[in-house]
Amino acid sequence: MNKVMGTYHVNEKGYYGEFGGAYIPEMLYPNVEELRQNYLKVMAEPSFQEEFHQLLRDYVGRPTPLYYAERLSKKYHTKIYLKREDLCHTGAHKVNNTIGQILMAKRLGKNRIIAETGAGQHGVATATVCALMGIQCVVYMGEIDIKRQAPNVARMKMLGAEVVPATSGSKTLKDATNEAIRDWINNPVDTHYIIGSVVGPHPYPDMVARFQSVISEEIKKQLHEKEGRENPDHVIACVGGGSNAAGAYYHFLDNADVNIIAVEAAGKGVHSGESAATSALGKDGIIHGSRTLLMQTNDGQITEPYSISAGLDYPGVGPMHAHLYKSGRAEFISITDDEAMTSGLGLSQLEGIIPAIETSHAFAVFDHRTFKEDEIVVVNLSGRGDKDLNTYIDYFKL
Ligand SMILES: Cc1ncc(COP(=O)(O)O)c(C=O)c1O
Repeated sequence: MNKVMGTYHVNEKGYYGEFGGAYIPEMLYPNVEELRQNYLKVMAEPSFQEEFHQLLRDYVGRPTPLYYAERLSKKYHTKIYLKREDLCHTGAHKVNNTIGQILMAKRLGKNRIIAETGAGQHGVATATVCALMGIQCVVYMGEIDIKRQAPNVARMKMLGAEVVPATSGSKTLKDATNEAIRDWINNPVDTHYIIGSVVGPHPYPDMVARFQSVISEEIKKQLHEKEGRENPDHVIACVGGGSNAAGAYYHFLDNADVNIIAVEAAGKGVHSGESAATSALGKDGIIHGSRTLLMQTNDGQITEPYSISAGLDYPGVGPMHAHLYKSGRAEFISITDDEAMTSGLGLSQLEGIIPAIETSHAFAVFDHRTFKEDEIVVVNLSGRGDKDLNTYIDYFKL
């Protein structure tokens, strides 16, 4: 692979290479501009950092363990560590970002929160921090996702959030995002939109990546303690919009010694017409406020995506990932529904850990490529599989 090393972080204009920016309707400009002007300033305040890290420690349960998976390592003849984001409060990495953004919203004087969700993990994480802070919460969710992630819908309601179905398009994450943007346009003054991934107009991709970067900050420290070195040879994560991946890669982005592997959902096969493999199928385009790689028809209409996993069922990726792909910095691998389900069952029975179906895609990489025996491979275990039990049960006829 021809790796062109430079910086893979955002530039001051909000771009990763040719991707990113803020392509927004005029009505949203004041909201996005207010955030852009304030996010770095607010995040740099010592009182913000103190509150953020105190909540990550005492409420979320960080640092999450870096676990050496002995049986998995033996099976695949390499050294595999799992970064246990599934052990975060609420069961996935999403809460790292929602803690950061609720503190940001409070400092910007907002008293109403909206969010979109696919798998429901971001919706639950948002409803959780809203309950924690006593702030009103509205979550938009595609009608299909409401059905396939029912346990998370119940959790959001229990936490006091209003869940609003999105009934247009494929009735999944993209459509929920459209509804949330519409709400924000109508409620520009009192509302903050907590976007759940490294997508959307600048500064969202950078802000969310910074909140999630605690993942790779901890990996470095923990790997140093366990192996006497900070850098793994490979870091693997699944990519929906790309927030768990951005967090797992963040402190390795500009270090050529660390190979970055991004895993996308191929659904029923990359060329089956039912897929969400953006890097393989996408072309440059604009979705939800940023220029990125996007699955689209020849005349620029967004193609409806498909994946068995609600969290990867999205026709784009965040601009950081579009740049990692285009520049050749990261290796992209597409995994089908069947491969992901099989690897999820495998991890459950080898290590006693039932992963979210999104995360199962990342583990299927071990059946696609080999690693050297003495290499260290870190997999970001982005979430736990409780929300997916019904899908696993139906699939395997358990
Ligand atoms: C457990 C888990 N992993 C991964 C994802 C994909 O999102 P992202 O690519 O932003 O990490 C989701 C989305 O809901 C999720 O719940």
